[in-house]
Amino acid sequence: MVEYDAKEHWEDVWARKKSNEVSWYQKEPKISLDLILSTNPSKDTQIIDVGGGDSKLVDKLLEMDFKNITVLDISEKALERAKERHGQKADKVKWIKSDIREFYSENKFDIWHDRALLHFLISEEDIQNYVKLIRKYVKDKGYLIISSFSTKGPMMCSGLDTRQYSKESMKKLFSDGFEHIKSFEEEHLTPHKTVQNFIYSVFRFRNP
Ligand SMILES: C[S@@+](CC[C@H](N)C(=O)[O-])C[C@H]1O[C@@H](n2cnc3c(N)ncnc32)[C@H](O)[C@@H]1O
Repeated sequence: MVEYDAKEHWEDVWARKKSNEVSWYQKEPKISLDLILSTNPSKDTQIIDVGGGDSKLVDKLLEMDFKNITVLDISEKALERAKERHGQKADKVKWIKSDIREFYSENKFDIWHDRALLHFLISEEDIQNYVKLIRKYVKDKGYLIISSFSTKGPMMCSGLDTRQYSKESMKKLFSDGFEHIKSFEEEHLTPHKTVQNFIYSVFRFRNP
């Protein structure tokens, strides 16, 4: 496992690349949005997009008038870019610059969304702490919508090692307190016209 400074790494990635050049770029985050809407959220639902980067998910949620949106990312540049895109509307979003491994919050969330952060957590310790963090900050009966590289996905991304997940390994990871609702794979077409296989999973949290 290569040791690296995560903050430095991601600031560098976001400084070097335009948002529509990164392999995970999506013009429309359709699957994430559909999965969020499938939970029948009210406009007051507390939604956090973890490792949100410069994703357009927040644009869609703002368009739909969601009132409690939080976007967290380790990279200040990514968040600045997203904020600039929104102009004054950016004030309607809570932007948190933090390494998820150091995240602390006074609030809990109804929906925890993560597309493509989990697979960058490599050590067993980081992964287990992330699961504990989600358990701590998702409300009872809240949802976890999580997406990572599948077992057919890349072993590396952005110069970093990644982990791959199957439906079974997702279910195993989130077995304590989470009810598995569904998992499915997606072939993501990158801006470089290559395909990356992702798995999406939805869980409902049952606080015991
Ligand atoms: C592959 S990108 C995905 C961005 C976004 N979710 C999307 O779908 O477009 C991963 C994002 O996670 C952020 N990230 C990576 N490691 C992180 C960490 N430990 N804590 C918080 N954010 C992190 C990166 O800066 C980057 O914006």
